[in-house]
Amino acid sequence: MTLHAQHPPTSPMAPFDLVIFGGTGDLAMRKLLPALLHRHVDGQIGPDSRIYGIARDERTDEAYRERVRDAVAPLAAADPRIAACLDEFLGLLHYRRLDLGSEAGWPEFAAELGDTPGRVRVFYLAVGPSLFANVADRLDGVGLAGGGTRVVVEKPIGKDGASAQVINEALGRVFHESQVYRIDHYLGKETVQNLTALRFGNALFEPLWKAEHIDHVQITVAETVGVEGRAAYYDKSGALRDMVQNHLLQLLCLVAMEPPASLAADAIRDEKLKVLRALRPIDGGNAGQLTVRGQYRAGAVGGQAVPGYLDELGAASNTETFVAIKAEVQNWRWAGVPFYLRTGKRLAQRMSEIVVTFRRVPHSIFGDPNDGHSSPLAPNKLVIRLQPDEGVKLWLMNKVPGPGGMRMREVAMDLSFAETFGGRQPDAYERLLMDVVRGNPMLFMRRDEVDAAWQWIDPIRAAWEAAHDAPKAYTAGGWGPSAAVALIERDGRTWHEDGY
Ligand code: BG6
Repeated sequence: MTLHAQHPPTSPMAPFDLVIFGGTGDLAMRKLLPALLHRHVDGQIGPDSRIYGIARDERTDEAYRERVRDAVAPLAAADPRIAACLDEFLGLLHYRRLDLGSEAGWPEFAAELGDTPGRVRVFYLAVGPSLFANVADRLDGVGLAGGGTRVVVEKPIGKDGASAQVINEALGRVFHESQVYRIDHYLGKETVQNLTALRFGNALFEPLWKAEHIDHVQITVAETVGVEGRAAYYDKSGALRDMVQNHLLQLLCLVAMEPPASLAADAIRDEKLKVLRALRPIDGGNAGQLTVRGQYRAGAVGGQAVPGYLDELGAASNTETFVAIKAEVQNWRWAGVPFYLRTGKRLAQRMSEIVVTFRRVPHSIFGDPNDGHSSPLAPNKLVIRLQPDEGVKLWLMNKVPGPGGMRMREVAMDLSFAETFGGRQPDAYERLLMDVVRGNPMLFMRRDEVDAAWQWIDPIRAAWEAAHDAPKAYTAGGWGPSAAVALIERDGRTWHEDGY
């Protein structure tokens, strides 16, 4: 059954102001403004809201609107609804030149925004984290940091626990924690939100969701892209900080957390925090056995030859573009269950999924798999495909119909989101931006979560640095270094790779 074309019940937002620092940057053009456009087209953003792009160069409102028009042209070309609303949306946009190094223009900007009681004001800091404190201070200096203000920050929130603390302190001096929205865009993905729905909206899974019945969990976030012109940032970060500290750990938390008492933001964030704090520490003593880091060499992705990381960077570097980790959540529910995490750039396929592998049946009544007639019973697997081909598959053993005895085969119950729900999957930023305006922090990271994630990550980083060895090479277009395969195969398990 397809539930096509059901218009989502979107509640129109009360008029608000959204100010994007870094208003001409990549994030604004590729993600934020297209997301706002979609919300406008669906009637969620009315004509009295204002969206400001802020940057350092001189530009008129008109020039800014034209720039945005170009950026969203492919969306308008693909959908007549968008084309029809585009001019109205562009009319909501304004551009202001503001320099963090100078006071010029700030008081006038504050006056323009005004101070209408009850009107929500969102400042989106789509700028490097080294500028967060400056923006916060400037906003404070012109009286824009008060009650109705919300501030949104993107990762990276620091490069380790100590630097994250400095950033959070600087924000904390100006804003109350409830005003700060830390984005991890994975939490806004529909399929990631569905993890909570799947686990806690069905009675089926929860009784089995524990070490007694689950053999292991795999979380893979594989990308085909390289560093995409972000080499300067990426080389200082690496996959551990760029992906594991935030996206992969958040996914792990959603899989492993205890049932929260409600959907209240803190109820969920409290449970996620407990998972982060229960992670088995990895340091110099065990990093060699539990982690693998890799760096891609030249190869081919999707039939296209691509250069190696060092060629793209044009310099020597030990930064990892791939990580695999065998993690463990040390509590009663999960003791002894490995959580294998892996993520990397320039892998064979763009694919993010969570695979929950259940334990084997305790005894097979279907004969001896070595007798030539019977097949071994594969363990059941729940595969949650986050992207692309979003959906859920439950792999079960079935009898192959027809004569020939009880021949068993593994087949999947397949819930494809596209087939079931049809329509467009909204981008994560659409939900996240509207949640900020709505004042719902459920899908944002609380400060203590960020700290706890760094507390687990920092010793891994330190162990790698102390080991002085280079990341393992892997050929672009494969599945990472062979050591990552060995990491899981040593335990008698394999990565779930063959067709989801
Ligand atoms: C970002 C990382 O947070 O996530 C990028 O900085 C990465 O390096 C991106 O490419 C992946 O996001 P998505 O939504 O494309 O899976």
